Amino acid sequence: MTESMERSERVLVKYPLFKTAVGRVQACFDSHEATAEPDCCPIVGESGSGKTTIISYFASLHPRVDHRWGLEVPVLVAKVPARPTVKSFAETLLYQLGDPLWSRGNTVAKSIRLRELMKRCRVRLLALDEFQHFVDVRQANIPNDVADWLKEQVEEARLAIVVLGLQRCLEVLKQNEQLRRRFGATLRVGAFRWDAKDDRTTYRAFLRAVQEQLPEYGMPCLSEVDMAFRMHYASYGLIGYTMKIIRGAARIARCHPRRQITLRTLAESFAEHVWSERLEDPNPFIDSFDCQAPPITVPSARTCVPRAPAGSSRVRLELHA
Ligand SMILES: Nc1ncnc2c1ncn2[C@@H]1O[C@H](COP(=O)(O)OP(=O)(O)OP(=O)(O)O)[C@@H](O)[C@H]1O
Ligand SMILES: [Mg+2]
Repeated sequence: MTESMERSERVLVKYPLFKTAVGRVQACFDSHEATAEPDCCPIVGESGSGKTTIISYFASLHPRVDHRWGLEVPVLVAKVPARPTVKSFAETLLYQLGDPLWSRGNTVAKSIRLRELMKRCRVRLLALDEFQHFVDVRQANIPNDVADWLKEQVEEARLAIVVLGLQRCLEVLKQNEQLRRRFGATLRVGAFRWDAKDDRTTYRAFLRAVQEQLPEYGMPCLSEVDMAFRMHYASYGLIGYTMKIIRGAARIARCHPRRQITLRTLAESFAEHVWSERLEDPNPFIDSFDCQAPPITVPSARTCVPRAPAGSSRVRLELHA
């Protein structure tokens, strides 16, 4: 993220679970070379719950350094490619390590180059985002050859690993005993629930922190109970939708000299960024919205996806905040 980017696009709130997650990743990072088997950790949560933001923030604390002897990459972050094969996965990692010849050679040659590069770049922690790509939704099968290959690479380099993804990515660990053995307890990030007092308090504190980071905008007090309820209703309590609505409103307000965000601006932002996905629900930022309405939970938490019979295609409702 660049300095020149609008402040609303750069807002970062270190809410309690964010700090816990960063601490957990740091512990994995520190375990490299300090323990016989480095710590590994899965971080799972719905789309828009802030997983990528957590790992990006952590990586920014341990940036790449261009030394005279070469590039040091303490934290290697990569997104697992869709329907990964050993080839595509190795290429992704080589590319992220800056190998100009990332597509060159067969799988064995790539694996060898990757191990050498990881050693040379002194990689301590490998963070794999979008880990659910290992679980192909359509075929419901897991490419175990890729999982085995991954296990070999990290074992050889004695890396700590953090995997991040949707809940179903845990299937990969469940089905791969050797990989699973290396992983500690799962850290869950998710939507803040309105019906849980602690979550509600944290969500309101989150909104307060966002507002404090945007002093140049006038807006109603976001953390006030009714306003926070509207925001929660609009976003399911997911950070992704919450920020989409606030950033969208800031973009609209930027066109006005006083940069005023009103209920109407928020209603407009909600209509533009979220409403098309849930037309059956009222726009919570209109005056007549009932702030005593029952609180809302994320559809993925409400929706029970039936197991499809073998061979048939599966459809899973997933939101992208
Ligand atoms: N701590 C935070 N403070 C401010 N904004 C945040 C924070 N965490 C996440 N966001 C914002 O919420 C949005 C979604 O976050 P992010 O992409 O990290 O979610 P995700 O869990 O990785 O989602 P997906 O599973 O779809 O990849 C982003 O626009 C991000 O900037
Ligand atoms: Mg992400």
